[in-house]
Amino acid sequence: MDTGYTDYADLIRLAFSARDRAYAPYSGFLVGAALQTPEGKVYAGCNIENAAFSPTNCAERTAFFKAISEGERQFTAIAIVGGKTGTGTKDFDYIYPCGVCRQVMAEFCSEGFLIIAAKSHSDYKLHTLKELLPEAFGPKSMEDTQ
Ligand code: THU
Repeated sequence: MDTGYTDYADLIRLAFSARDRAYAPYSGFLVGAALQTPEGKVYAGCNIENAAFSPTNCAERTAFFKAISEGERQFTAIAIVGGKTGTGTKDFDYIYPCGVCRQVMAEFCSEGFLIIAAKSHSDYKLHTLKELLPEAFGPKSMEDTQ
C-alpha cells in the first residue's frame, strides 16, 4: 500500500508529540497515535483516562474519532507509541492496539491498513490490520446477502 511515506519517522514523531498530551493519571501509561489519510493529512490522538475508568479512551480511538468527526473516511496508516510515565528509552516498548481499537479500525480501514508499533522514530514494527484482526466482523458482514 502506498502510504505516502518511504519511512515512517515523521508519523512516529507526531505520535510522540501526541503522547506528550496524554491524560493518564491513573495508569501512568502514556500513549500517542498519529493517523494518516491517503492525502497525507495526519490526525493525532492521546489516551484520555477517567476517574470512573470505563470512559477512558485509547490514543488510537481519539485519533480516529477526531478524523472521522472532521469528515475523513479513508486511512492508510497509524503510528502508535507508548509506555509508562517517563522519557527514557527503556520506557518504550512496541504498543499494539487493544481489541476495541482494532474493531474501530475494521470499520473504516481495508485489510492492508498499516499499523506501526514504534519504540522510536527508527525502531518500529509494521503490521497490517488483517494480521492483527483476522476474520474481522465489519461493514461487509452487515450487508444483505439475500
Ligand atoms: N491504551 C491506549 O491508549 N492504547 C493502546 O493501544 C493500549 C492502551 C491506554 C488506555 C489506558 O489509558 C492505558 O493505556 C492503560 O491501559
